[in-house]
Amino acid sequence: MARLVKLPGPLDPHVHLRDLDWEHKSTFLSETAAALAGGYWAVFDMPNTPPPAIDRPALDRKLESIARQAVCDWGVYFGASQDDNSGEYAAAFDPVCGLKIYNNATTGTLLIDDQTLRARHYAAWPGGKVIAVHAEGETVADILALVRQYRQPTHFCHISTAEEIRLLAAAKAEGLPVSVGVTPHHLFLTEDDVRTLGPLGRMKPELKTHADQQALWDAIAAGVVDVVESDHAPHTLAEKQSDAPPSGVPGLETTLPLMLTAVHERRLSLERVIDLVALNPQRIFGVAPGPETYTLVDLDARYTIARGDLRTACGWSPFEGMPVVGRVREVWIRGVQAFDGEAVRVAPGFGCNLYGRES
Ligand code: DOR
Ligand code: ZN
Repeated sequence: MARLVKLPGPLDPHVHLRDLDWEHKSTFLSETAAALAGGYWAVFDMPNTPPPAIDRPALDRKLESIARQAVCDWGVYFGASQDDNSGEYAAAFDPVCGLKIYNNATTGTLLIDDQTLRARHYAAWPGGKVIAVHAEGETVADILALVRQYRQPTHFCHISTAEEIRLLAAAKAEGLPVSVGVTPHHLFLTEDDVRTLGPLGRMKPELKTHADQQALWDAIAAGVVDVVESDHAPHTLAEKQSDAPPSGVPGLETTLPLMLTAVHERRLSLERVIDLVALNPQRIFGVAPGPETYTLVDLDARYTIARGDLRTACGWSPFEGMPVVGRVREVWIRGVQAFDGEAVRVAPGFGCNLYGRES
């Protein structure tokens, strides 16, 4: 018997939708359709793919294109750049969901590894909207020093080790305005899986040990983790199977089913999943779905993750072959059925910028 439950506006605040100069990987239309199929009301797009969203012309190009194509609601991040674009912040602030700072090497060209320059960005960001950071290992402590100094609300993306969790739990105990995101790939895969997955198991941060994985689950139970975010980062299969495979894996269509499977296995409660994928990201990023925006999931439906069923343009998943319990049946946005369990029911451009009222 199907047990249908209502999730209030699932929001994934960490995706890389591509498009623009990386249209060959995926488009705003293909990946927002994947978001609906994954049960999401809204997704927030990262600034690292070309042209990086680090000045107003590049941001405007992205805003115009995503507004024309999106089938779910959305936000976009502005990016901090190496050549100090903080002078752009005032002009870029209104239509974006927040600022992203890359403090360790990853896909794209936005790495900032100089602490003085990081501080300049922290000082210049207008405040009142989140700074999301890519910080791994020892860099977490460097960023915490900036949070302590500038008190800007900071979301630590894709935290993946026991040591990083320890630092962030202490930061929370100290009262610093920090939030913590973890990804399904770090929750459900480990470094052992790289042996079988090869480049399809490569992303930044990399997959870690079983002990690190356990620390993430413990931190979910302890309330240290606030958000489960997909870090959806599609690359074509040909690119992943090339001699120089890029880092990144898709995740928009597998995150909710995997988390619902964990509920089925009694690893956490359904209420906690709702916090992690909906209520906490809404609170952290200051957005709220109305009562007519919700997702219906069937807690009992079983299936196996298969590439043929995916809508993401990249057409593969690191979770292929995994049996899951829990299926997205319907997504309603602002009173409109946007996804019916099989097909997208709204036209390109239906999706709204959640930070859309530019003053
Ligand atoms: O593996 C990753 N891929 N990590 C990131 O931080 C960026 C992403 C991408 O854009 O491909
Ligand atoms: Zn990312």
